[in-house]
Order: sequence, then structure tokens, then C-alpha cells
Amino acid sequence: MATGDVYGDLNYELHDMRDWSGVDADIAICDPPFGLNFDGKAGNYNRDESRVVDGYVEWDVDQYDDRIEQLFDCLAANTVDDGQAIVFSGMDNSHRLHQAALDHDTWRLEGKLYWTYNFAPYCKKRPAHNVYELFWLVKGDDWYYTNECSFDHCEEGEANLSVLDVKRNYLKEMPKYPTRLPVKVVGILLEHFTQPGDTVFDPLAGSGSVGIAASSLGRDAVLGDLNENAKDVFESTVDSLADAGDVFSEEQAESTSLSEFSS
Ligand SMILES: C[S@@+](CC[C@H](N)C(=O)[O-])C[C@H]1O[C@@H](n2cnc3c(N)ncnc32)[C@H](O)[C@@H]1O
Repeated sequence: MATGDVYGDLNYELHDMRDWSGVDADIAICDPPFGLNFDGKAGNYNRDESRVVDGYVEWDVDQYDDRIEQLFDCLAANTVDDGQAIVFSGMDNSHRLHQAALDHDTWRLEGKLYWTYNFAPYCKKRPAHNVYELFWLVKGDDWYYTNECSFDHCEEGEANLSVLDVKRNYLKEMPKYPTRLPVKVVGILLEHFTQPGDTVFDPLAGSGSVGIAASSLGRDAVLGDLNENAKDVFESTVDSLADAGDVFSEEQAESTSLSEFSS
């Protein structure tokens, strides 16, 4: 598929996040690189590294503040006036993201959510840190939110949106993309923060989980990444999930035996 082709109502372009303009999304959802020289192939990941695709673009830690500011500018410029953004972060540089949100001219930090998950490397000698922080950014006071969703985490009467406890799933027989988000965690966010027909933007889309969840829930998605292998993983994931039927099913996860992580 050529750059810019539309896959159903999913548009995935290969370019730098700084090159986007005029997207007019209702919400941006994205997970930036960690700034840790991460490529998902380290020995502590219990996976066949030959299936992990190359080309993941990492950010140097000394560039991290600039990159986050550029990302926030990109998200602000490509969302509507009452648009929102939800930006994921692992623990190592989340303080930088938090400060950038406080300093940004357009975005206001409205809240934080936490996603907890299982993690393949089994930490025998130290506690595992299996949580992501999600920074919820708004431009004004007119943002959309509903307290109900169709996923099982949402108890009747009160939405448990402070903590999302969603397993990471490892798709069977598929090329692997580092840090692929489960479509279910994106689906939960989309049902709470968007309406059918809204447009969702992810300029750091990787394997495209944000777009796959959006499309499955009747939202349009605009996706991008610098890594052409990411787009290939996205296309094969779309094909595989289309065959499987329910994209939110955790049944498609392959069981991961845990390996010892001894550092
Ligand atoms: C943490 S991954 C996103 C994973 C994705 N959420 C998924 O579910 O597969 C971050 C992505 O940002 C991409 N990236 C890094 N810098 C970029 C840039 N300046 N413009 C576009 N993409 C970039 C990387 O190649 C990587 O795929």
C-alpha cells in the first residue's frame, strides 16, 4: 500500500509528526517513544526477536523535552478548538511530559489516568513497574466525556477511569511491534472521550492500535509514523483482526510463559 492510502476509514501516512497540518481531529491519542534506547529486542523480553520488526524511531533522552514540546504542538495544531489529547508515558520520562503539559500554551492538564498491565519479563529480583501514566489534555472547558462504556471495567453507576486494568496481549503468528498498545485500552478511552463519527489522530501510530480500535467503534482515524515497517505491521494486523472478527477479544492473545529477569 502506498503512502497516504486509505484503509477503509483508516488513513496511515509515513511522515514526521512535525509535518502534519489540517487534520482537525476531535481527539489525539498517542504513545511517544520512551527516550531509553528502546527497540523491544532486549533479552529480557520473552519473545522471538526475529519477529520484532526494525525501524522503530527512538528519541534521545537529551532531545526528549524538545520532542515532547513538538509533539504537543503537533497535537494542538491538528485538533479542533474543543479537542482533547491523551498521551501515554512509561515511568522513566513521565515527569518531563508532566512539566511540558504544565508549560504548554494551548494544552491544559485536566487529569491523569493509569493503565496497569501484565508484562512479559518476570522480575524475580525486583518489583515490576507495570503501569503507564496517561496525561489527559484539554484546550478549554468544552470537552466531551461520557461516564459509560461497554467494556467490563466500567462498573454500573461509576466509571473506573482512574485505573484501567487491561492485559497486554501478544498476537499469535504476527510480526511484533515494540510497545504495541492493546486495542482494548484504546477502545475504553474512545468510548468515554469520543462519539461515533469523531476523528482520532495518532501521529506516532506504530502498529496502529489507535486506528484499529477507532475504526472498530465507528470513529475515523488519521495515523502516521516514520517507520515503514510499522505500517506493514499495521496492515497485517488489520487483515488478521478482520478475519478474527472481534478485535477487542483477549482470546487472540498467545499465552506468554514468563522468563526470569535477573537484573
Ligand atoms: C511507542 S511507539 C507507538 C506504538 C503504537 N502506539 C502501537 O500501538 O503500536 C512510538 C512510535 O513513534 C514513532 N516515531 C518516533 N519519532 C517519530 C516522528 N518524529 N514522527 C513520526 N513517528 C515517530 C516510532 O517509530 C514508533 O513507532
